[in-house]
Amino acid sequence: MLAVQFAQFGPPEVLRLAEAPDPHPGPGEVRVRVRAAGVSPVDVALRAGTSPSAARLPRPHIPGVDAAGVIDEVGPGVTGWAPGDEVFGIVPLATLGGATAQLAVLRHWARRPAQLPWAEAGAAGTSLETATRALDRLALEPGMRLLVTGAAGGVGSVAVQLAVLRGVRVYGTGSADAADFVAALGAEPLGREIAGRFDRALDTAGGGLLPALIEATGDAARVLTIADFAAPGLGVALSTGEPAGEPGGHHGLAEAGRIRVPLQATYPMSDPPAAHRAFETTSRRGKLAYEIDA
Ligand SMILES: NC(=O)c1ccc[n+]([C@@H]2O[C@H](COP(=O)([O-])OP(=O)(O)OC[C@H]3O[C@@H](n4cnc5c(N)ncnc54)[C@H](OP(=O)(O)O)[C@@H]3O)[C@@H](O)[C@H]2O)c1
Repeated sequence: MLAVQFAQFGPPEVLRLAEAPDPHPGPGEVRVRVRAAGVSPVDVALRAGTSPSAARLPRPHIPGVDAAGVIDEVGPGVTGWAPGDEVFGIVPLATLGGATAQLAVLRHWARRPAQLPWAEAGAAGTSLETATRALDRLALEPGMRLLVTGAAGGVGSVAVQLAVLRGVRVYGTGSADAADFVAALGAEPLGREIAGRFDRALDTAGGGLLPALIEATGDAARVLTIADFAAPGLGVALSTGEPAGEPGGHHGLAEAGRIRVPLQATYPMSDPPAAHRAFETTSRRGKLAYEIDA
């Protein structure tokens, strides 16, 4: 199969389109013929060599943790799914990649809703799973005021919409010029300023915002971050880790039909560096994705 991959860490230009061995699904996994694959911060940090996980990465490495495609092989123990099913989802966590290729193995997946275009579906998995996991842990109740930092980002843009569906009043921080985008998602845009009082705060931006979020909610227990590893020392919950759920049955992925997965741009797999270059040089408006040729 053809895959976007890199052998050395470095700038986006280390990404190449080249042949790679076909992967096969293990127990509880499926293989898809990929139509689209999302681009995530972890992909960019691994390629640059700046992620703490980069050192243990077998290379060449195929980036991408999210993909959508058509099942063509079903792993041992998977029932209720068959070749030909159109799905989207997340690769096995330990592999840290593998999605940006003609064939990819998924560990968590759901049926692609008919109204969800392939590129959106390809970029949806981790954002939906992470946002759902984070909102669940915040114990939201209708009418609460929720602050989401990084509201225009891949996870933030999905979290805002899902929180609105839970009857919460959402406020979102982000670049000043992302205000219209954030408002269209259903949140009141606040720019970069954390001003006001909130019942809960979800931090997707990272970068040292937790003290301000504790102040704005009045209690570290009302704050949750997915992006700031200083959290435990401040009494703030940090949500990371393996998505929960049965094969093909994670409830976060099942939310796909209820919201949009905003796509900032799509890129052909024939130009591997373009998507990573754009990721590094633009202000985020949802997700970026590769379109994968059969
Ligand atoms: N724990 C988990 O399970 C988990 C899962 C997925 C992702 N993550 C992590 O969560 C983070 C977000 O992921 P993502 O995919 O949403 O990334 P993303 O698409 O790059 O979005 C990050 C957003 O944060 C904004 N931002 C940065 N600094 C900010 C600040 N000081 N105030 C307000 N907004 C700010 C960015 O705005 P600009 O683009 O305008 O700078 C961007 O909109 C990443 O660190 C990622 O590694 C964790």
